[in-house]
Amino acid sequence: MSGEGARATGPADDRVSAEQRAREEELVERVVASFDATPDERLRHLLVELVRHLHSYVRAVRLTESEWAAAVAFLTRVGHTTSGTRQEFVLLSDVLGLSMQTVAVNNEAYRNATEATVFGPFFVDEAPVVEAGGDIAGGAPGEPAWVEGTVRDVDGNPLPGARIEVWEADAEGLYDVQHEDGRTYGRGRLVAGDDGGYRFWGLFPTPYPIPDDGPVGDLLASTGRSPLRASHLHFMVSAPGCRTLVTHIFVRGDELLERDSVFGVKESLVLDWEHHPAGAPTPDGRDLGGRGWARTRFDIVLAPA
Ligand code: BEZ
Ligand code: FE
Repeated sequence: MSGEGARATGPADDRVSAEQRAREEELVERVVASFDATPDERLRHLLVELVRHLHSYVRAVRLTESEWAAAVAFLTRVGHTTSGTRQEFVLLSDVLGLSMQTVAVNNEAYRNATEATVFGPFFVDEAPVVEAGGDIAGGAPGEPAWVEGTVRDVDGNPLPGARIEVWEADAEGLYDVQHEDGRTYGRGRLVAGDDGGYRFWGLFPTPYPIPDDGPVGDLLASTGRSPLRASHLHFMVSAPGCRTLVTHIFVRGDELLERDSVFGVKESLVLDWEHHPAGAPTPDGRDLGGRGWARTRFDIVLAPA
C-alpha cells in the first residue's frame, strides 16, 4: 500500500475491505458531527480532532478488544494512583513526551530568550525567601554549588526585581516533599538585584528516578526504559511584561542527558560546572567546613509576554 490512505489506516490496511473501511469512516464522521452544536468553537475543535486522532490510531493498529480493555485497566490504575500529593496522569504525559510537546507548542523560540522545559511535580508555592548569596540547600545532603547569573530581557536590559524560584533534589535523589515529615529544603525564592543579578548556594545536581512504583513505572519497565532524569536544578523566573519561564539547568557530561526519562533536556540548558577542592576560596568567602564545592553561571533571558 502507498499514499495517505495507507498511512491513515496502517500496515494491516490490506486486510480491510473497501466496505469495511467505509463503515469505519462513516462512524468517525457520525461522532464528529455529534459535536456540531457545541457553542464553544475551541471546545468543538479540540473534541473533533481528538476523535479523529483516536479513531485513526485504533484503525491504524487494528486495536483488539483485549488491548482496548488493557488500556482502560491501565488508565484506571493511573487514576487510582493519583491523589492529592501524586499526579500519575501528569507523569504519564511526561514519559510519553506530551508535556514537553505542550511546552514546545506554547514556548516558541523567541530571539535569544532562554528555552523552557518541563515543570515536574515538585514545585511548592511559598518556598523560603533567600537573600542574594543565601543558601537554598537548607542542610540537605550534597556538594555545595554556587549558582549566579543575570535576568535580562531580549534586548539585554536587566530586569531588577525579577522573581526567581529554584528547587532541586538532594544528593540521594529526593525532594523535600518526598519525605513525609514536612521538612523544607532544596528550594528558595530570590529577587534579582538592580543590575538583574542573582546568586545563591544550592547543591550540585545529581540524577534521580521519577516516581516509578506505580503504573507509569510499570510502563517504563515493560518497555526497557529507565526512570532516571538527567541531573538538573529547576528554575521558574517571572517579571512584569515578560513570559514566565519554567526551565532547568543541566550538567555537561552527565551520561543521562541523552536519555532523560521525560525528554526535558535542551542543549542550550546544559551548563559547564567547575569543581573546586576542599579549602579553595569561595566566591563570597563562605567557610564550607572543609567541603569541596561547584560553581556555574546561568544568564537568563525572558521573552516578552
Ligand atoms: C522532576 O524534574 O522532578 C520531574 C519531572 C517530571 C516528572 C517527574 C519528576
Ligand atoms: Fe526535578
